[in-house]
Amino acid sequence: MIRTADRDGVRIVTLDNAPVNALSYALSTELVPIVETAEADAGIKAVIFTGANGLFSGGADVNDFTTEPTPQTKTVRDVIARVEAGSKTYIAAIDGNALGGGLELSLACDYRLITPRSRLGLPEIKLGLIPGAGGTQRLPRLIGAQDALQMMLKGELVKAQEAKTKGLADEIVDGDVVEAAFALLARVLPEAPKRRVSSRSVALGKGMQLMALPFIIASAHKMVPPEENGGFAAHKLIDAVQAAFELDFPRGLAREARLFDELVRSAPSFALRHIFFAERQLGKVPGLGSAPPREIARAGIVGAGTMGTGIAIAFADAGIPCVVVEPSDEQIERAKQMVFGMYMHQVQRGRLTQEVAWSRGQSIAFTSDYAELADRDLVIEAVFESMDVKKQVFAKLDAIVQPEGILASNTSTLDIDAMAAVTNRPDRVLGLHFFAPANIMKLLEIVRGKDTSPQTLATAFKLGKTLRKVAVLSRNAFGFIGNRMLFDYAREAIGLAEEGVAPHRVDAAMTNFGFAMGPFAMFDLSGVDVFWHISAARPDMGAGRTKIVDRLYEAKRLGQKTGAGFYTYDKAVGKGRQPIPDPDVERLFAEEAGKAGIAPRESTDAQIVERLSYALVNAGAKLLEDGVALRPGDIDIVYIYGYGFPPHHGGPMWYADEVGVKKVYERILEFRRELGPQWEAAPLLAEIAAKNGTFAAYRPTEKELTHA
Ligand code: NAI
Repeated sequence: MIRTADRDGVRIVTLDNAPVNALSYALSTELVPIVETAEADAGIKAVIFTGANGLFSGGADVNDFTTEPTPQTKTVRDVIARVEAGSKTYIAAIDGNALGGGLELSLACDYRLITPRSRLGLPEIKLGLIPGAGGTQRLPRLIGAQDALQMMLKGELVKAQEAKTKGLADEIVDGDVVEAAFALLARVLPEAPKRRVSSRSVALGKGMQLMALPFIIASAHKMVPPEENGGFAAHKLIDAVQAAFELDFPRGLAREARLFDELVRSAPSFALRHIFFAERQLGKVPGLGSAPPREIARAGIVGAGTMGTGIAIAFADAGIPCVVVEPSDEQIERAKQMVFGMYMHQVQRGRLTQEVAWSRGQSIAFTSDYAELADRDLVIEAVFESMDVKKQVFAKLDAIVQPEGILASNTSTLDIDAMAAVTNRPDRVLGLHFFAPANIMKLLEIVRGKDTSPQTLATAFKLGKTLRKVAVLSRNAFGFIGNRMLFDYAREAIGLAEEGVAPHRVDAAMTNFGFAMGPFAMFDLSGVDVFWHISAARPDMGAGRTKIVDRLYEAKRLGQKTGAGFYTYDKAVGKGRQPIPDPDVERLFAEEAGKAGIAPRESTDAQIVERLSYALVNAGAKLLEDGVALRPGDIDIVYIYGYGFPPHHGGPMWYADEVGVKKVYERILEFRRELGPQWEAAPLLAEIAAKNGTFAAYRPTEKELTHA
């Protein structure tokens, strides 16, 4: 895992632990004696650390966090302690990325050289952690507390030029970075001055007085979310940076280590690490074999509405040109405006140059002529949510698009097999369910029909990567994973309002729990009409026990777009997007509840959260049983990326484990008694509860796995 070579009294230590040169316990255990030997060798003047596999190091191995190091195993902290205590000159020769523990190792060196493609960062916060190998103590000494806090709180990667400007790197070098390190040594040896970051005094940032420290610390604490709602690690990180000022270096390190050790055992960090691993499982589909994906060089889209236009932008952003077919001239005009407006906004914000924005805009062509889809490798339809319309479109596409081309539907709920059945290529038909706005939302549900071939699926997963989406496989079933669960969630949200809990109270309880948005605000955003159409097609889904959705629909209260839905909207308040509670809606709920004989019922905030989140858990358990979702983690990803579930609770299924599946099950039995048969517990939930087990330990049967 480590290669060493000596040249001119310099030891080159190359980290080679594919794929990302993770500084695992195993690698660190190998590295400690290498540093010790170099230190003991009078013939060695300097040590150069560098990395193989196109990067320096991606950081610690996330798998190691769940195992305690034994007295024999070493960690990156031990490596860094040896470097810190050493007397040789250390250079980090960084070509490519240096992240987390990798960057922390370089911070312990005397010099850091990088290349133009290097990215540096301490992204631990994304896993609910803080840098635990000196990063919180060295970074403020090197670049000032203000910048250090910002870099670590966001966990974002810093590009080469910015790293140089901030003082994070000493030089950006073109060409071989190890050779550049030798050139540097030739300049500074034999009397190389010690440039250990630890011996620097801590700075706030350019032009700031130390007096400002309490202010910076206090405003940082105010900027991040509350401890119990996603900010647990962030507050600890700020504490660690504060320690860099208030304690000497060794004590600061000890404080950092204590905070890290507390975080690594904390529920939010376990949840975030679960998501990290779940994301890496998504593409592993049993039975997919090694079918080679097809290349998607040219795409087509049918329908230039909200979704079709958003999907076109997503393709343009990924460098795939597309043709959008739309019969309505007026709609084409609107779509062009949307594309133009979006790219202009990006240019104004400095995110894209005018040239790039222009060429991306140009790569989307609009037409009313289906014939232009003939040479496409993939065509996605995003026409109205009507099976008749979709079938017509699929029959037409099958006749026009080259035989090898893949045909996909962006339907939210409809049967993919029924669409495949009107074509002569059911093996090349599938669902690609994007979320609005399609160019921004990360989630993509890949829907497998009964005849969808492994190659078609492999192509879809590869496309997901190209479009930089998080792609989750779902079996073809009403609402797939996300919307199927959403219906149960919606049913209970509406149920609460029918019992007299005001919509804004339901929403507040859910956002306090950590959801990005409450259910009623979300319905108003997607449109009450969408909801109405779905419940008209499937009265068993979603709509609650009263006619409330019909009443809103008839009153043209369709949500944000009509200025009123479950809330009202006022152009003067938050650009017309801020929900304003409306007593009329509460009256409407009360009226309808009266007609349906629903008695008022009090619910505390905790009970609101229980009812809505357990509805998701129960629906999720059914999806696992039916093999619609492959793994609990897949469901969690769908809910976090598509529906704003709080990541620090790890998604609905992980949250059930956090609460205790048995406890969730028992509460669901109570709901069943109090509220009715819609709360029938999923057999899988009962089974796991009976064993006092967890979803994390759930392993699907062969039948569920292969979507048989
Ligand atoms: P939309 O009503 O904004 O757009 C549909 C477009 O398709 C219209 O421009 C219409 O003129 C066009 N169209 C209708 N028939 C056509 C045909 N035969 N050939 C070509 N174009 C035709 O609808 P939206 O919201 O974009 O939805 C489209 C699809 O995406 C639906 O299946 C919907 O369920 C699904 N979807 C919608 C989401 C949303 O949040 N709006 C999210 C995910 C999926």
